[in-house]
Amino acid sequence: MASVTSLSDSVQQHLADALASALPEADGVDPLLRRSDRADFQANGILALAKKAKANPRELATQVVSRVTTGDELIKDVEVSGPGFLNITIADKAITENLAARYADETGRLGVPQTENPGTTVVDYAQPNVAKEMHVGHLRSAVIGDSVVQLLEFTGENVVRRHHIGDWGTQFGMLIQYLDEHPHELDHEAGEVSGEEAMSNLDRLYKAARKKFDSDEEFKTRARRRVVDLQAGDPHTLAMWQKFVDESKIYFFSVFEKLDMEIRDPDIVGESGYNDMLAETCRLLEESGVAVRSEGALCVFFDDIKGPDGNPVPLIVQKSDGGYGYAATDLSAIRDRVFNLKANSLVYVVDARQSLHFKMVFETARRAGWLNDDVKAFQLAFGTVLGKDGKPFKTREGETVRLVDLLDEAIDRASAVVREKAQDLSEEEIAERGAQVGIGAVKYADLSTSANRDYKFDLDQMVSLNGDTSVYLQYAYARIRSILRKAGEVRPAARPELELHAAERALGLHLDTFAEIVDEAAAEYAPHKLAAYLYQLASLYTTFYDKCPVLKAESPEQVENRLFLCDLTARTLHRGMALLGIRTPERL
Ligand code: ARG
Repeated sequence: MASVTSLSDSVQQHLADALASALPEADGVDPLLRRSDRADFQANGILALAKKAKANPRELATQVVSRVTTGDELIKDVEVSGPGFLNITIADKAITENLAARYADETGRLGVPQTENPGTTVVDYAQPNVAKEMHVGHLRSAVIGDSVVQLLEFTGENVVRRHHIGDWGTQFGMLIQYLDEHPHELDHEAGEVSGEEAMSNLDRLYKAARKKFDSDEEFKTRARRRVVDLQAGDPHTLAMWQKFVDESKIYFFSVFEKLDMEIRDPDIVGESGYNDMLAETCRLLEESGVAVRSEGALCVFFDDIKGPDGNPVPLIVQKSDGGYGYAATDLSAIRDRVFNLKANSLVYVVDARQSLHFKMVFETARRAGWLNDDVKAFQLAFGTVLGKDGKPFKTREGETVRLVDLLDEAIDRASAVVREKAQDLSEEEIAERGAQVGIGAVKYADLSTSANRDYKFDLDQMVSLNGDTSVYLQYAYARIRSILRKAGEVRPAARPELELHAAERALGLHLDTFAEIVDEAAAEYAPHKLAAYLYQLASLYTTFYDKCPVLKAESPEQVENRLFLCDLTARTLHRGMALLGIRTPERL
């Protein structure tokens, strides 16, 4: 039995039983337990219940109290307060024993249960565009998406990752035609080109192609014809296109590696991957009447979506020239994910500025019967990354900031912080830690605010040792690891017979709620809730550490028990940070 029932769940159950025995109609009623400053927990559920049963709430509360078992095992003390609340204090022994069970979980899951009936969720994230530079928007999708994937997998959900890269569209006609006329521009032996070179090759080619496209009418015509060839599947054209995709992937992988993120090739299913489904998708929509022809285009209309002129704005599934766009691809991807991958949930980690698109796409899929109450789609929309000035993040020249430059700068800053504090680290170690701290800082800043909000990209704040930053959490972890090393032969061990200091209790009760937070963060696709939990954990640990000497505690048993609290905190920090995609170095 690896999974551990949390103290709050046990108390909840015990109170529910006491309630039902005091008032039979209260069977199954939630006693509404929450953490409280006055005691460990407060239950507020009796008020509403008494009102419904036309009983006096204080009297009912008193009856419930008389049915609660108190002692060492779980509830040490319960009393009625205010109009009929219950204040509950947990026994020290129960706290230590519960934590000991988490500590003993040989699966390393800290007693967090796995869901019994997992569903299948497709997470659409980290979706840059072929032959284009990655920018901060792609950072957010990658970082948030990766954490959501980790969280869901940890709860036991089946997760399918999909990187819906932009690898299809009219600009490829121009690029392919240019490459065909200048055949050696992307030539190199496989494996010998770096991500940065790959990007600069693409960039150079893109600019040159664009220049020719804008100045040479005949080239323009040839380029337009190439789009048609591409969509028709002409083998030579497809081979050229593949070169762009391959070159771009070299670049993407190098950025993802810098981000310390595992992206697997088979999970990259870009827009082109749905090409064979597009005609069928349109046919199904037209035959079912979900989409209608309007001025030659195949459109879906919505009552509540109108343009500034008051006219309805349709979702265009097929243009009047027969071409398919972004919407047709996304609708086809839904069919693939629902019918082939058998998903029950589709999560799209995409910029909030695409919300209207997804609203229309999801509604269309619902009308077509591809989505319904059992198969749901959700856009995990994220806000804009702002500069220090509060305006969308741009370079001084007004250009979008290249993601790689930004990551390099974060790593540089973090390395400086690590170097300053380093005592016994080699240059190599400083570089490695610098990368872990710098990338962690960027990820944490993104994950610690709720996704839908904009946030300011402020490196000074991100690598600060004080405050709600990953560096603060990483230092807390490294500090604990150093204490455990210093303890030498003395091993951490739970000592349930010991009385706990208030700071130990606060830390212990918080450690015990890890499972609930992970569950909540996964169910709501809200990594920021886990980040807030971890920050509070590190703060509670700091208070504990200030108030309670560990290696110099009063008795050998107390040393062991405090080492045990330290170690469980470290493990929880490590696990939690990993769920955010952030490393916790052993030494800093
Ligand atoms: N490639 C797109 C962009 O850079 C994001 C793709 C989002 N996913 C999707 N299924 N439409 O904006």
